[in-house]
Amino acid sequence: MCGIVGYSGKKSCLPILLGGLEKLEYRGYDSAGVAVYDGSKVKTVKTQGRLVLLREKLRNGLPGTCGIGHTRWATHGAPSDVNSHPHGTDRLTLVHNGIIENYSELKEELTQKGYSFISQTDTEVAAKFLDACYDGDPISSIRKAVSHFRGSYALAIIFFDRPNTIYALRQGSPLIAADTEEGSMIASDIPALLEYTRDFYLPDEGEILEITENNIRFFDSGGNPAEKKKVTANWSAEAAEKGGYPHFMLKEIYEQPEVVSLTVKTYLTEKCKLSEKPAKRILISACGTAMHAGIAAKQAIEELAGIPVVVDIASEFRYRSPVFCEGDQFIVISQSGETADSLAALRLAKKAGIPTIGLVNVQGSSIAREADHVLYTYAGPEIAVASTKAYNVQLAALFAVSIALAVQNGRLSEEEADWYLSELAAMPEKIKKVLALEKEVAEAAKRFNASDHCFFIGRGMDYAAAQESSLKLKEISYIHSEACAAGELKHGTISLITEGTPVVAIATHPRLWEKSLSNILEVRARGGAVLLVCQENVPVPEGTADILLRIPSCPPLFTPMLTLPLMQLYAYHSAILRGCDVDKPRNLAKSVTVE
Ligand code: M6R
Repeated sequence: MCGIVGYSGKKSCLPILLGGLEKLEYRGYDSAGVAVYDGSKVKTVKTQGRLVLLREKLRNGLPGTCGIGHTRWATHGAPSDVNSHPHGTDRLTLVHNGIIENYSELKEELTQKGYSFISQTDTEVAAKFLDACYDGDPISSIRKAVSHFRGSYALAIIFFDRPNTIYALRQGSPLIAADTEEGSMIASDIPALLEYTRDFYLPDEGEILEITENNIRFFDSGGNPAEKKKVTANWSAEAAEKGGYPHFMLKEIYEQPEVVSLTVKTYLTEKCKLSEKPAKRILISACGTAMHAGIAAKQAIEELAGIPVVVDIASEFRYRSPVFCEGDQFIVISQSGETADSLAALRLAKKAGIPTIGLVNVQGSSIAREADHVLYTYAGPEIAVASTKAYNVQLAALFAVSIALAVQNGRLSEEEADWYLSELAAMPEKIKKVLALEKEVAEAAKRFNASDHCFFIGRGMDYAAAQESSLKLKEISYIHSEACAAGELKHGTISLITEGTPVVAIATHPRLWEKSLSNILEVRARGGAVLLVCQENVPVPEGTADILLRIPSCPPLFTPMLTLPLMQLYAYHSAILRGCDVDKPRNLAKSVTVE
């Protein structure tokens, strides 16, 4: 949530800042702003709305070689010009990603000192609190100020008496830095800097960075100079471009065969065991789509490896009193590796002494750094707010883990495991076949688009797929949608099915086909309009569905890997038909680094 960038170098900084913000706009798009030192003073330009409006405001340029920029996802205070970043005083200006939780306490203290406020943001409070602490020494003043802050934040600051230098730090929010041939840079995420370098510094929490034209210095939380090594990202600059597709989401949907193949190949080579001793119980915690991948993993791990699995929404897990048992292992799943609730859940498990595993897509992210053991997925950068390819690679990795656990537990022989693994390796070609159905899916979306409601039903793995399909549809098309376990429908939700209500029935599991069919007929009997997703070669009685989409046959446990690409396309076309901005749905942001 929120993206920050900073540049100090020899070049004109505005194009670099705006280019970086464009790559970070997926993190929030309520407002945007920059502050640039023009040789005599630091000038700030900001506006409510998308980056394109800021570009318009800056069409005559803003000279200068040192500056900071921000794209906002509103937390404290509505999206407005005045609440846009940067915020500051007559001695400094800063941009902020995260939340200062005790801002009202700090504001009260500042008010008593004579400070006044023009915005509703916690960021203005942070800026003024830093101003009150500023004694001419940036490092010690920042240390003093942040020792009073509670919450998560990444800050980039320019003090007006050192206008060619940027100071930055992170506490709970992401920040990377790079010294490139063009100059020194910081950003909230890798895609913002990929055009210039793939080698990054990953500041530790509490470390302060001093960024000048040709140098980046690090100071530990005690204020002492710190040594830092670079890490190299395995992403290319092109991976963060649309590559001819109208939207990142569509591009990312179509990347699935390739990234699933890469992930599966890596897992086949690495023979992914979680630990030497098999877990007695596995706890999985995550948010949104990643949590839905966890729900699918639960079924695979329980069925193949016979290990009980508990899946928890991270924001719930962290605030109840979870009971840990001896032999537990904890898996946190996250594309970004920065989701605040998932990170907190990981820390809770670590504190309880449970071995932790992070399944993450972003190298060097907070979860990757804090988990005891990291399993990577290889989706490359996922830019669209709606997660698509990340889900499928999470499934691929988790299914590979389930197979490895089953071998470790003696529930699968090597031959049986090899069969599953070869089926997993065959999935990318099957995903391609599913993607070839885009035209039919677009037609189906058109047929159901008039309704503001949609229900997804399924059993077992199909229920897991239904939950993710429903999230996809609602988050980008704003059609109200609900996923219901097909057998549960008659316990309440069926009262909402009336003449023409769209129901997407996912029924790919041969063993559950007849049960699912009965539930579909119950829907039909109430006038529901049914889009049925089933495996090829399954005889479907006449009149069962209004629209039928078939996926290639595969082991029942793997079916969400095929159902989801179909349903992602369904959500995409539904959203396009409604004129929605699919890559940047309202009120959302890609990386949820606040609670
Ligand atoms: O980066 P993470 O995987 O931790 O993100 C988790 C959720 O915020 C994310 O999946 C979100 O639900 C997406 N908008 C779903 O498309």
